[in-house]
Amino acid sequence: MGKGKGRATAATKTRYGRIAPIYDFIEILPELRYSSWRKRFWEIVRGELSRGSRLLEVGVGTGKNMPYWPQGIRFTAIDLTPGMVARARQRAAKLGVEAEIMEGDAQSLQFLDDSFDAAAATFVFCSVPDPVLGLQELARVVRPGGSIFLMEHVRSTDPIKGKLMDLVNPIVRNLMGPNINRDTVENVKRANLAISNVEDLDRGGIFKIIHARKLSSFEEGSN
Ligand SMILES: C[S@@+](CC[C@H](N)C(=O)[O-])C[C@H]1O[C@@H](n2cnc3c(N)ncnc32)[C@H](O)[C@@H]1O
Repeated sequence: MGKGKGRATAATKTRYGRIAPIYDFIEILPELRYSSWRKRFWEIVRGELSRGSRLLEVGVGTGKNMPYWPQGIRFTAIDLTPGMVARARQRAAKLGVEAEIMEGDAQSLQFLDDSFDAAAATFVFCSVPDPVLGLQELARVVRPGGSIFLMEHVRSTDPIKGKLMDLVNPIVRNLMGPNINRDTVENVKRANLAISNVEDLDRGGIFKIIHARKLSSFEEGSN
């Protein structure tokens, strides 16, 4: 990883380390909206997986998805920020959920190629300093044909709202961590993943569930 990316990753870790102790508190209001979206997201994931599938959740945060995790799946979860990992472990213990939870960077995952049947992340690729590299890493550790599921907020396609998001972005990023003006659907394509479906969650087209697939070498050859 280059020096610039290393610095950006360290800054992201510091920002999330700062808010980890209050993350659940500051998310109380947004969560009123997100909880039904999380339910929907994991229903989609469950529909694509079979019993015993291995799933990697990247950027697990404090483990807000755990109550929605489908049963019968083998979960591994990583997060860049130690304070988040500690909280995710506490939540897993409280809920009686079995998972391997550890520190890790989406941009340089510690797993071997093709280790998982699928990967999932919610509200993470707005924060990963090099999102295309992170998505390529997800593709590397997922088996060919495996799924990658994302729930993300993206830059508005409305020109005025989009410009406003660009203006406000540095403030939000420096205070909290996320970028609010990313085109994550485009980033998924840049990472050479095949988009299976994009579902809009809100009328403004800002919140989306993206289902993509890692192409098999046969499919890549015929592309
Ligand atoms: C907005 S929070 C979302 C947390 C959780 N997924 C949720 O839905 O509540 C973003 C999370 O991504 C993590 N993160 C940011 N950059 C990361 C990276 N490069 N690798 C792994 N996790 C990262 C942060 O530490 C933080 O926990």
